[in-house]
Amino acid sequence: MSGSNTKKAIGVFDSGIGGLSVANVVLAQLPKENIVYFGDNGRAPYGPKSPETITQYSLEIVRFLLEQDCKAIVVACNTASAAALNTLRETWPELPIIGMEPALKPAAAQTQTGKIGILATLGTFQSSRYASLAERFANGVEVLEDPCLGLVQLIESGKTDHPETEQLLHQIIGPMRAEGVDTLVLGCTHYPLIRPLIEKVTNHQVNIIDPAPAIARHLEHILEEKQLLNTTGPAWHKFYTSGNPAVMQRILRDWLKLEEKVQVHYWA
Ligand code: DGL
Repeated sequence: MSGSNTKKAIGVFDSGIGGLSVANVVLAQLPKENIVYFGDNGRAPYGPKSPETITQYSLEIVRFLLEQDCKAIVVACNTASAAALNTLRETWPELPIIGMEPALKPAAAQTQTGKIGILATLGTFQSSRYASLAERFANGVEVLEDPCLGLVQLIESGKTDHPETEQLLHQIIGPMRAEGVDTLVLGCTHYPLIRPLIEKVTNHQVNIIDPAPAIARHLEHILEEKQLLNTTGPAWHKFYTSGNPAVMQRILRDWLKLEEKVQVHYWA
């Protein structure tokens, strides 16, 4: 792929609004790229679902994004990456597909106390991808894991700055802090949307790792290598949801500073 393909869009998807935390960084890193975002809000959360179901959903979403003429895909969801990345790459071997995984490796390298906390979803923790990551990179560091049950639902319902969310974060992070955790990995793309609350709950005393900047750099590198970088612009962005567009619309306006209208795509 090259030539006119450079003008095609980058498809970004997540179970819901979480992937917007990745799209936000991609927009900043690659301002000339066109982006089509799909949030599967109508079927979120993915965390408690089976890998087979998540793979089925991911295949449907990538098909939809390819119908929108995308040249590359970012699976802006740790849970979908854990379940579906291999199948997606087998299904579309020529298509650049960038996935995500909890940033355990940099966290293990950065901790001073030798204890790191991983905030992710049940689906991510139960995956073989995560098991292999922990086995390769924990390197004698103690890894405390929490599947943050209910947190994605709170964020999806718009409670990004709400006492209920703060209370749940205290329950999750308090025990980790008591154990001496000094580094927290945001292993679910929804969690950067509540980063201010996480910082509040940890009194700004913890090193927080969000992998989105590394993902955006990796994407740029892959597009460059495949001669797919769009160097002309100006860029356009489209946002789709399979659920209620209101929360996505608010995050777009407040976080990404974009006025584009969220379009609804219901599954048949
Ligand atoms: N945002 C997703 C992730 O990065 C998952 C959220 C969900 O459970 O749907 O893992």
